[in-house]
Amino acid sequence: MELPAHIAIIMDGNGRWAKQRGKPRTFGHVKGTRVAKKVITECSRLGVKWLTLYAFSAENWLRPQAEVSLLMRILQRYLERETQNLVKENIRLTVIGEPERLSPDLQKVLEQSVAATSKCTGLNLVFALSYGSRQEIAAAVQKIAAQVKDGTLDPDQIDESHIQSNLWTEGMPDPDFVIRTSGEQRLSNFLLWQAAYAEFYFTETLWPDFDLSHLHTAINNYRTRSRRFGRLETSDELLSETSH
Ligand code: IPE
Ligand code: IPE
Ligand code: MG
Repeated sequence: MELPAHIAIIMDGNGRWAKQRGKPRTFGHVKGTRVAKKVITECSRLGVKWLTLYAFSAENWLRPQAEVSLLMRILQRYLERETQNLVKENIRLTVIGEPERLSPDLQKVLEQSVAATSKCTGLNLVFALSYGSRQEIAAAVQKIAAQVKDGTLDPDQIDESHIQSNLWTEGMPDPDFVIRTSGEQRLSNFLLWQAAYAEFYFTETLWPDFDLSHLHTAINNYRTRSRRFGRLETSDELLSETSH
């Protein structure tokens, strides 16, 4: 099978990686950011069209304030340092989630990075920030209810594509391949609607240890999968089934 058009990654395990080394959790986040940078460049080089990185969940606000603010600082520094490289690499950055919950400074830097890369036509890089899939679905339901209330939408018109176009991921293809590091095998409120037919890949590797060879192994694994979407394997099988 060909390359996944859209890879989504739950970058997990930074804290445990740091703990193993007797360092504060934030040390893991710093190393994790470097890994993310390499993975972004490699996906761009490979010709992956979409890469969504789960960087901060809506539930991550419940972590200690010191860790949250450090994560925000790391993100801001990343954007300040890397935006020019993104432009050079023809990478377009967008965000899903509730960016309005981020600090005004960070929001401003994010807006600048999104604007600076908006004309890029290579990899579409999506940061999931203060992202929660249930929150996203609730927001979509609110928008759709308002359309019904103001008379612009008939309830009969609410189909899958209408729901899809009211999600934060509007205009994005669904993920083909969801990778989660650190041995956890759960979605943690990530792309619940969108991952309906995604292929999943779980690895014990902690995110700060996830290097390009791990990425290649994961993608090669994806290539061996048979995606049926509820249908039968091949048209041959389909023919033989229906001819009986
Ligand atoms: C992932 O690593 C990064 C974020 C959630 C922001 P963690 O911080 O969750 O690291 P572990 O899972 O505690 O090891
Ligand atoms: C998921 O990781 C969120 C991100 C990687 C940004 P968590 O570490 O927050 O998930 P749980 O709490 O283990 O489910
Ligand atoms: Mg974690």
